[in-house]
This record gives sequence, structure tokens and C-alpha cells, in this order.
Amino acid sequence: MSDHDDTVLGEVLASFAQTPDPRTRQVLEAVTRHVHALVEELRPTMAEWEQAIAFLTEVGHTSDATRQEFVLLSDVLGVSMLVETINGDPHGTEGTVLGPFHMTESPQRALGDSVDLLGTGTPCVVTGSVNTEDGTPIPGASVDIWQCDENGFYDVQQPDTQPPGNGRGLFTTDEAGRFWFRTVVPSHYPIPTDGPVGRMLEASLRHPYRPAHIHFIAEAPGFREVTTHAFVAGSPYIDSDAVFAVKQSLVIDFAEVDDPEQAERFDVPVPFRHAHFDIRLARGED
Ligand code: BEZ
Ligand code: FE
Repeated sequence: MSDHDDTVLGEVLASFAQTPDPRTRQVLEAVTRHVHALVEELRPTMAEWEQAIAFLTEVGHTSDATRQEFVLLSDVLGVSMLVETINGDPHGTEGTVLGPFHMTESPQRALGDSVDLLGTGTPCVVTGSVNTEDGTPIPGASVDIWQCDENGFYDVQQPDTQPPGNGRGLFTTDEAGRFWFRTVVPSHYPIPTDGPVGRMLEASLRHPYRPAHIHFIAEAPGFREVTTHAFVAGSPYIDSDAVFAVKQSLVIDFAEVDDPEQAERFDVPVPFRHAHFDIRLARGED
């Protein structure tokens, strides 16, 4: 006999007792316990409970193949970052949220190529390397990057004005584990606010902005893949990311360079910005 036997909670928990898969049973029991505890704490009126169901229904209806409002909800509640942190490896570069804009495969590009197909923003060179946890370079690692333009829009948000693949590139590190590419400095931008999650932010007087960043996924055989960002130091909202994804180790100086020799080496005009981002991969499999 458990101490729940005289409650609905006890009956519901008992109803899952025959679940053959132990993990499924654990999940069903934990969800039941936590939802019951939430309702006990909040003691919602019937109208409030209906409002909660209507909110989640709308979150579902706002999701489709290209828009995932449930992920956005998880993002703004800090849950995506919590899952990311639980699954991160302390031996590798810190991870952050994937976000909804990695919806298209990045075009394969050669080292030194530009991912900027518009030519209107502040020129920027990104250099870096992919290494093991003890600093040994990993040649042939894949580095997938995507970013918004200088106005804060991803290519998929502006199909009429941005060519597909703008701000995206899939690079392979050289024999010394290095990568480098040309781009423009990305802008801070708001997460989508035209759905129920946007209304939730508004109701709580929260702003919807993310600080400027470049997304990275780095992977190599025998190592754990890392999904992360390089954040632009000094960007607006660096201390109040709407999805709580900023980690100090990922804030990078996008320093202004006015040295013509360096500009010539990277084939960019002066002045330009330079960001250097080294990535560490932990050994293992995903
Ligand atoms: C992004 O950085 O692309 C992003 C992440 C979470 C929510 C919305 C956008
Ligand atoms: Fe982003």
C-alpha cells in the first residue's frame, strides 16, 4: 500500500504499474506526479484550466513543418537549455540551443569562402579550429554554421530578398584542424512573437530578443557532436537572451581590424571585424 492509495494520484500511478518498458513507466509516473503537484499548488479555477488547455492547443496549431511553437515554448521557459546542459559533455565546448532556423542543409563551401551572398553588411572574418579535449587538432571535422544577416533575418525568413543559403556554410577543417570563412556581422533579433508564446512574453513584460550570434554544429567521427553559438561580445541583449542560451565561454570579441595586409590575406575590405572561435570536441558517440 502506498501513501497515495486514497487519492486520484495514487490510482493514476497504479494504472501505469504494468507498463513493460521501465523508462516509459518512469516518464509516465514522473509526469503524473509533477502535473498533480502543479495543480495542487495552483488550485486553478475551471476557467483557468480551460485557458491552459486552450493555450497548449494553440501552441500545437501554431506548429507545422517550418514553425515549431512547442520548441519555442521550451526555449523561453529555459527548458531547452536545461536539456542541452544535462546532455553536454564537460570535456567539450559548451552547447546551446539549436533554434528553429537550421531547417535547411547548409551548402558545402571551401575554407575562406564567403557565406554572405548580399554584400551589404559589415565585413567579418571568422577563424577557428576544432580540437580534442587535450588540444590536439582534428583534421577533416565538419563545421556547419548559420546566421542571420545584418538586419536580423535568416534567409528562410526572407525568401524574396535573400538567396537560399545566405548566411550558411558547411566547412571541413584543414590538416591542422582549422576553419575560416568570410561573412557579415550578424545582428541581434527577436524570436517569432506572432503566436501564443509571443503573447506569453508580452503578458509577462519580457522582451523577445536574442543577442547577435553565429550558430555552429561541429562533428567528427569518434567524437560527440556539439551544437553551439559564438555570441558577439557587447551585443544588445547579451545579458538577457530571451532563450537563456548565453554562456560566458561562448562570448567572442568581434574585433575591428584595419590592417591592410590582413585584409588582403582574407580578401576583405578594411576595416573588417575578426572573430576567433576554437571548438573542443569530447571523445565518444552521440
Ligand atoms: C535561434 O537562435 O535561431 C533561435 C533560438 C531559439 C528560438 C528562436 C530562435
Ligand atoms: Fe539564431
